[in-house]
Amino acid sequence: MEILSTPSEARQFTRSLRAKGIRIGLVPTMGALHAGHLSLVNQSQQACDATIATIFVNPTQFAPSEDLSRYPRTLEQDYEMLEAAGIAAVFVPRVESMYPPGFSTYVDPPEIARTLEGNCRPEHFRGVTTVVMKLFQAVPADSAFFGKKDYQQWKVIEAMSRDLDVGVDVVACEIIRESDGLALSSRNRYLDPNERRRALRLSMALKELEQAISAGERDVATLQDGMRQVLVSGDGVSQIDYAVIVNANTLVPLSTLDRPAVALIAARVGQTRLIDNRELCFGSKLLGGR
Ligand code: PAF
Repeated sequence: MEILSTPSEARQFTRSLRAKGIRIGLVPTMGALHAGHLSLVNQSQQACDATIATIFVNPTQFAPSEDLSRYPRTLEQDYEMLEAAGIAAVFVPRVESMYPPGFSTYVDPPEIARTLEGNCRPEHFRGVTTVVMKLFQAVPADSAFFGKKDYQQWKVIEAMSRDLDVGVDVVACEIIRESDGLALSSRNRYLDPNERRRALRLSMALKELEQAISAGERDVATLQDGMRQVLVSGDGVSQIDYAVIVNANTLVPLSTLDRPAVALIAARVGQTRLIDNRELCFGSKLLGGR
């Protein structure tokens, strides 16, 4: 596995593979890898001839009050996992090579970035679209693999890629969960045992939502109330940023569950902010698609 450290090195390596007709899959990450990341790598390995992962804790997507300085960094372990997965290369740039002195160009995120996470973390998606566009330039891949746990991020990157004719096929991969339902996240490392137990409220709320829909409930306000109750009941989450059901494609709020929708939750447990979601399919695939 090659370790690439500058954008020009990464571009040269990617171009040399593509010149030989090799189909490249890109897996962008911020490191602290877990089984969720490995599932992206595996899907890339299956769909493409070679995979290039990136590890970069991108400062521009963190607000000054957020966890940039304490974000978990486990580089040696990450390398071992990627090497074992058999990928071609990992691009691990330093902050100065992604954002050299004088850097001042940003990608204005699409409309779909303005809601939900965009409200809670106003500068976040500008940092994401900018760094992902830079990663697409450094590693001009055929396909790029993102996790559906960051559902809105997937939609934002998809819209950016379409609007700016990026020419990379954006592939979304299913959420990977612990056996008790907790969605895998690098930030789960922040949770102490008590918080880890309280964090299960997110997946429980989604599971109970699923049950209420299966029982015939279609009123979105009622379903959202139900999610909120599960989130806070008992020794629940410390704060709900949002717990909503919205149009799965546009993220616009719904009043009745009458089209493909997604339930999205962001909540804090202690100091840790967690997100989770559940796609709600319709027609013959009502909640049965996964
Ligand atoms: O989802 C992430 O890990 C990050 O937001 C990404 C896409 C790697 C951009 O920094």
